[in-house]
Amino acid sequence: MIKRILTGDRPTGPLHLGHYVGSLQNRVRLQHEYDTYVLIADVQALTDNFEHPEKLGDNIFQVALDYLAVGLDPEKVKIVVQSMVPELAELTIYFMNLVTVATLERNPTVKEEIKQRNFVKGVPVGFWSYPISQAADITIFKADLVPVGEDQLPMIEQAREIVRRFNRLYDKVLVEPRAMLGAVARLPGTDGGAKMSKSLGNCIYLGDSAEQVRKRVMSMFTDPTRIHPTDPGHVEGNPVFTYHDVFNPNKDEVEELKERYRKGTVGDVEVKQKLFAALDAFLAPIRERRAEFAAKPKHVHEIIMEGTRKGRALAHQTMAEARTAMKIAYKFE
Ligand code: TRP
Repeated sequence: MIKRILTGDRPTGPLHLGHYVGSLQNRVRLQHEYDTYVLIADVQALTDNFEHPEKLGDNIFQVALDYLAVGLDPEKVKIVVQSMVPELAELTIYFMNLVTVATLERNPTVKEEIKQRNFVKGVPVGFWSYPISQAADITIFKADLVPVGEDQLPMIEQAREIVRRFNRLYDKVLVEPRAMLGAVARLPGTDGGAKMSKSLGNCIYLGDSAEQVRKRVMSMFTDPTRIHPTDPGHVEGNPVFTYHDVFNPNKDEVEELKERYRKGTVGDVEVKQKLFAALDAFLAPIRERRAEFAAKPKHVHEIIMEGTRKGRALAHQTMAEARTAMKIAYKFE
């Protein structure tokens, strides 16, 4: 049987280069080999944006545009809106019995996110428990493979544990998913910080104009120990070179720049200009496709609705099997 992919994104804004190398690239590469579902996780986005639900509608549209822009084929890939599949909420509730409070409290990604966010009234239960809902996202579609960035590994592990418990306790209906990391599991931010993150303002977005990309690149952090262009510089851990390695297909140029940088015979400006050229060559076709789809919003809405309809049908089927396995498919006639 053809294997299935499920992965997704929170619609908190447009997607950036970190999303691309972490996961989007794998989806595009594998979409013809796998039955692919991509979830726009608006319910999860609400867990820390519940005060601004009015932004979700547009953000869902923007994320769908990014999917189509990078080359997800709407004839193949099902784009599914999470809140329109109520079966997900149902499965989440049943999964809650299979997870302990202690396990949730150990999730390193959630811990880190709680630190970053300033929950003044305390951590919402919905946010703290979102790994359970994410396990439902993955398993309701019986996904074999989940292409994600490194930060999502604890979620996949949580999903695997739940599947094992469910299948052992009730019946073997769920599939244990495997994570697949991107070519670059974690792309640093333009500020050299650990990762690109909207809240840190260190992102290059897939839909950014050439001018926005140029500005971001020219203001990137480089080697903090280097004062003059004639100082020998460090290439390792220097985000400008990390990006060159990932996005500049001209490996000879990159090697030459690295050599000159180490010797102190090239300035940051030249290295950045060449990075901008490489990034823009990569982003220009994406930007163009994005604009084409953005000009046909009704078409995009149809793609979303069709994907969601197919996703819901599959979710409905799995829920029926899960209820039967749990012996709660009552026949009170
Ligand atoms: N947690 C993911 C993120 O922050 C989004 C997500 C929701 C997801 N459901 C998923 C990812 C299921 C993979 C599988 O980007």
